[in-house]
Amino acid sequence: MTDTTLLLGQVLSFTADPFEVPINDAAQHLRQGAVLLRDGKIAAVGERETLRALHPLAETVDYGQGLIMAGFVDAHVHYPQTAMIASWGKRLIDWLNSYTFPEEMRFGNRAYASDIANRYLDLTKQHGTTTVASYATIHPGSVEALFEAAQARGQRIVAGKTCMDRNAPEGLSDTAQEAYDQSKYLIGNWHGVDRITYAITPRFSPTSTPEQLQMLGDLWAEHSDCLMQTHLSEQTDEIEWVLGLYPDARDYLDTYEQFGLIGARGVYGHAIHLTDREIDRLHDVGAGVVHCPTSNTFIGSGLFDMSGLKSKRVSVGLATDTGGGSSFSMLRTMAAAYEIGQLRHTPLHAAQLLWLATQGSAMTLHLDDKIGNVKAGLEADLVVLNLSSTDAISQRVDNANEFWETVFPTIMMGDDRAIEAVWINGKRA
Ligand code: GUN
Ligand code: ZN
Repeated sequence: MTDTTLLLGQVLSFTADPFEVPINDAAQHLRQGAVLLRDGKIAAVGERETLRALHPLAETVDYGQGLIMAGFVDAHVHYPQTAMIASWGKRLIDWLNSYTFPEEMRFGNRAYASDIANRYLDLTKQHGTTTVASYATIHPGSVEALFEAAQARGQRIVAGKTCMDRNAPEGLSDTAQEAYDQSKYLIGNWHGVDRITYAITPRFSPTSTPEQLQMLGDLWAEHSDCLMQTHLSEQTDEIEWVLGLYPDARDYLDTYEQFGLIGARGVYGHAIHLTDREIDRLHDVGAGVVHCPTSNTFIGSGLFDMSGLKSKRVSVGLATDTGGGSSFSMLRTMAAAYEIGQLRHTPLHAAQLLWLATQGSAMTLHLDDKIGNVKAGLEADLVVLNLSSTDAISQRVDNANEFWETVFPTIMMGDDRAIEAVWINGKRA
């Protein structure tokens, strides 16, 4: 007996990148749509009556005017920062030292790590997120805690041990050799198991010695199907610090490039203050950069140049950057991306925002052949949005003239009340 479910509602999917082709050529909207799920995968997408007739025995769930779309993919988070999100008044380096490192130190305790991993995946699921790419802490157990929590939920996940062998506190430092050995051990035990992807994770160049970056570059060369995630050019004083620590480097990206830490499977968080050379290199190697808008305003980092990077065809994803970011919600994150676009006089269309939060992020993680869209053959990770979840949104939607105008108020004003349902791996979560 196969396990077949037919979801009915409005359906949104993408056939192209809405930054590259006109919105209506990139997005497909079915007002009376349906999505057939079978054995954890999307088996078909089509018109409601057609799929109903073809699959009369499927269990049916009717979401009415609910919008069925790909579950959100959050391409850069720190799950260990869940319990210190919204910490007041500091900029990056002070914020790390005052709030982040003390909290991350607690993850040496495996029970605490499991507790927060489960709390974090509960919170993100409530906000419609079905995959995250997370940094753990230097403790290998903190990675295993998250993988186990995701595995128990059947959830696709990306994570890695955060490596730091300088400029970090005593209790939160490894060595170049430990970083290599522990990351290698985790790759051997977890990478490719169920829905797990390992990301080799040097935190950022200031907290690694050249020796550590070299060993992690070597490790990546040995395991080139892993991702590599790190931070790049988030704040201007951080960049100055980096260039002082690596006097031979041409720029921030070069501190990674010198040690083999650049490539198509490289995922670089923030990437705000880039030079032309860095942008060209990121494009040429096909690397991904991740926009973290609520974090960039919350920590005071700067305004990401979405249109500049997209026009140069750099792969861009979207992320909360919990807990530098001030929210677990990708809706709130899309709203912040819109506002930053406005400050740069390049407003993003609702379709572009939703694409970034699903396909765009999945592409930076090289998972777009598995998740991030509503398309036959992909894994059935879906969110159903209630586009009238509050009085404020609903009265605006009543006044809408076309589809995108019914979605944009939820992007700008929606929260977890807009998440009507979440499906993970073909099962209602
Ligand atoms: N740069 C290095 N570590 C971090 C972190 O934990 N959060 C943010 N936002 N930036 C970083
Ligand atoms: Zn980060």
